[in-house]
Amino acid sequence: MKAELNAPVGIIGGTGLTTLSGLEIVGEHPSSTIWGEPSAPLVEGRLGRQSVIFLSRHGNPHRIPPHQVNYRANIQALHDAGVRTVIGVNAVGGIREDMGPARVVIPDQLIDYTWGRPSTFFEGDLDAVTHIDFTWPYDHEGRQALIHAAGGAGVPCSDSAVYGATQGPRLETAAEIRRLERDGCDIVGMTGMPEAVLAAELGMRYVCLGLVVNWAAGKSDHIITMAEIEEAIEQGMSGVKRILTDSMAELGRLSPLPQPS
Ligand code: HPA
Repeated sequence: MKAELNAPVGIIGGTGLTTLSGLEIVGEHPSSTIWGEPSAPLVEGRLGRQSVIFLSRHGNPHRIPPHQVNYRANIQALHDAGVRTVIGVNAVGGIREDMGPARVVIPDQLIDYTWGRPSTFFEGDLDAVTHIDFTWPYDHEGRQALIHAAGGAGVPCSDSAVYGATQGPRLETAAEIRRLERDGCDIVGMTGMPEAVLAAELGMRYVCLGLVVNWAAGKSDHIITMAEIEEAIEQGMSGVKRILTDSMAELGRLSPLPQPS
C-alpha cells in the first residue's frame, strides 16, 4: 500500500509543540476555509526529505483553549493543502499505571466525552445522511510507522491505549478520572476529538502521538501543577520529535485512503 507520489504529511502540534524545531521551513500560508480560519498559518517545510505541513493547534503563541479550537477549519485546511495523513500530537494525563509523566503513548482507541463542539462536516443542506465507520479511529499503518520509529530510536512507548477525550479547559476531578478508568480509558486529553473523526470524515489517515505530561487527577499524591507539566514536556518532547522525524519517510509513502463519496 505505498503511493508513488509523496504527499505532504500533516503534523498538528499541541501543548509543548507550537513550533517544530528541525523543520526546514519553505513557506507560511495563512489560509481560510468554508469553516473559518485554522488556528495558525500552515507552515510548509521539510523534515528530512519528506514534505510536511505543520499546524499549531492552539495558535502560535499558544492562545486558543481546547474547547475553542476550530477543529473543522484545521482539518479542512490541511486537506485543502493536499495532506492525506495527519499526526496529531497531544499532551495527555496518564491514568494507567505504566503511563506516567514523559511516557510516549500511541493509542488505538478512544472514548469521546466532549460536548458542544462542532464535530462533523456532514450538516446543513445534505443530499444524504452519512454515518462513517469509526470502529478503529486511528490509522493502523500510520500507527505502525510511529511505533517502528520509536523502536528504532529507542524511545520507550506504549503502543496500545484508550484515549478519553474530555471537554476542558479545566482538568478532571478524581472521581471523573475513576469513572474514565472504569470505562477503560488509559490516558486523558482535551484535544483528541473531534479532530480524529473530522479527519476520518474527509478520508484522511489520522494517528495520535501522545505525550503524558502529568498523572491524571487523583492518580498521584499531589494536585496537578504547571511546573510538573512543563518538566514532563521538557523530558519527553525530544522523544516525540525523534519519532516524528524518523517516521516521516514511511508516513509519506502511505497511499491515500479511498475518498468517501
Ligand atoms: N486531563 C485532560 N487533559 C490533559 C491532561 C489531563 O490530566 N493533561 C494534559 N492534558
